Amino acid sequence: MAGMAKKPQVTWGGRFSAGPAGLMLRFSESVSFDRRLAPFDIQGSKAHSAMLAKVGLITRRERDAIHRGLDAIGREIAAGRFRWRTELEDVHMNIEQALTARVPAAARLHTARSRNDQVATDMRLYLKAACAEIGDRIVAAQRALVRVAERNAAVLIPGYTHLQRAQPVFLAHHLLAYVEMLQRDAERFAAVADHANWCPLGSGAIAGTTLPIDREFTARALGFVDARGRPRVTRNSMDAVSDRDTYVEFASACALAGVHFSRLAEDLILWASQEFKFVELPDAFCTGSSLMPQKKNPDSLELLRGKSARLQGNLHTLLVLAKGLPLTYNRDLQEDKPPVFDSHDQTVLCLEVLAGTVAGIRVHRDRCAAAVADPALLATDLADYLVRRGVPFREAHHAVGAVVKLAERQGRPLDRLAHVDVRAVHPRFGRDWVTSFDLRRAMARRTGPGMPGPAAVARQLRGWRQRLG
Ligand code: ARG
Repeated sequence: MAGMAKKPQVTWGGRFSAGPAGLMLRFSESVSFDRRLAPFDIQGSKAHSAMLAKVGLITRRERDAIHRGLDAIGREIAAGRFRWRTELEDVHMNIEQALTARVPAAARLHTARSRNDQVATDMRLYLKAACAEIGDRIVAAQRALVRVAERNAAVLIPGYTHLQRAQPVFLAHHLLAYVEMLQRDAERFAAVADHANWCPLGSGAIAGTTLPIDREFTARALGFVDARGRPRVTRNSMDAVSDRDTYVEFASACALAGVHFSRLAEDLILWASQEFKFVELPDAFCTGSSLMPQKKNPDSLELLRGKSARLQGNLHTLLVLAKGLPLTYNRDLQEDKPPVFDSHDQTVLCLEVLAGTVAGIRVHRDRCAAAVADPALLATDLADYLVRRGVPFREAHHAVGAVVKLAERQGRPLDRLAHVDVRAVHPRFGRDWVTSFDLRRAMARRTGPGMPGPAAVARQLRGWRQRLG
C-alpha cells in the first residue's frame, strides 16, 4: 500500500494539509528522466536571475550568490555527486530546493517565473543542442559514405527498380543518393533548431507576470537571437507554455532520418547476402549464430531497420499526446520528454553505427562486375540508339522488346545475337548496334547533371568532399 508522505511538498505545499501518496509520487515524478535537462535548467535560472537583478527585483549581491550556488550544483551534478530526490518531482524543483538550502536568496529565484515557462525554455535550449549534435553526426556518416564511394569509384553495379535489375550505375552514385538524403536530414534539423530559437521565459504559468521583467534581456542571455543578434521572444504566453510543435518536428526529423537509415541498411543487407555478395560487412558490426557456425549476421543493419520503427513510434506518441489537450499546460505534457530524449539518443546512436558499419565495408569487385555485365541492363541504351537514328521512342522500345524476346527464344545474351536477326526486327539497326552494350561507353554517355556518368559522379564526389571537409 502506498503510504501518505508526512510533510506537504515545500514549493507548492502551502494550500495542502497532506502530501501526496507514495504511489502518486512514483507515478508523477519525472526527475528520473528530466534530470538530463539540468545544464539547461541552470543556464535558464542564471539568465533569469541576471534579468531579475537588472530590473531591480533582486540585488546584484543576491544574483551573484544565486549564480555561485547554481554553478556549484552544476559541478556536483556533472560529477555525479548530486543527490536527486524523487519526492521533489522534477529537475526544476530538485535544483531549486538544493539551491535554497545553501543560498537564502534562492527564495527569490522563482519570481515572475513558472515551471511551465521554465520547462519550455529548458526544452528549447536542449533541442537546439540536440540538433547541433545530430548535425555533426550526420556529417560523420556522410563522410564514411563518401570515403567508400571514393575508394570504389570505378565499380559499377546494377541499379534496381522493383528489385529487378534495371540499369547500370556506379556504386558511388548509389551511395551518394544516401548522402543526399542525409543532407536533407541535416537541413531539417537546422530548421527545427531555428523553430526552437524563441525564448518562452516570461510567459509565466499562462498569463505572464505583473512584475516589470525584461524578456529581451533573458532571451539575449540565453542565445535566443536571430542572425543579426536581435532577441527572439515568443509572442503569446498561452501558446508558449503549451506549444509542443518543435518537439514533434524534432521527432519527425528523427523518424525520417530513421527511414533513410533503414533503407540504406536494407540495401546493404541485400548486398551482403550470398545471393548478391556485392559487399563484405565488417566483423565488428556483425554477430554469429549460437547454432550455425557458418553464419555472419548483419545485426547492426537489422537494428538500424528496427530502430527506425521506434523513432516513428516516438513521433506518434507526441502527436497523440498533444492532440486533445485544451489550452494551456496540462500535466500530460510531462510525458513529452521520454520520446524526445529517446529519439535524440537513438538517432545519435544510429548515425554512429551507420558510419562505423559503412566505413568497414569491403566491396567484392568481381561480383559487382559479374552482375553488371548482364547486357539486358543496357536494353534502354539500345532503344536510345534507335532514337538517335530517327526512330520514335515508342517504336524503338517495341523493337528492342522484340530483340529481348528473340534473345530469350535463342537462349543467348542480348549482345550475342546475329546482326541479320536483329536487322530483321527493325531496319534502322545498323552494323554498330552491338556497341550499345559497351558498358564504359554507355556510362560515358550519361553526361547530364544528376546522372551516373563517370564525369558527373566524379564532380559530385569532389563537391561532397569539399562540402564535408
Ligand atoms: N515536470 C513538469 C513537466 O515536465 C514541469 C512543469 C510542471 N508544471 C505544472 N504546472 N505542474 O511538464
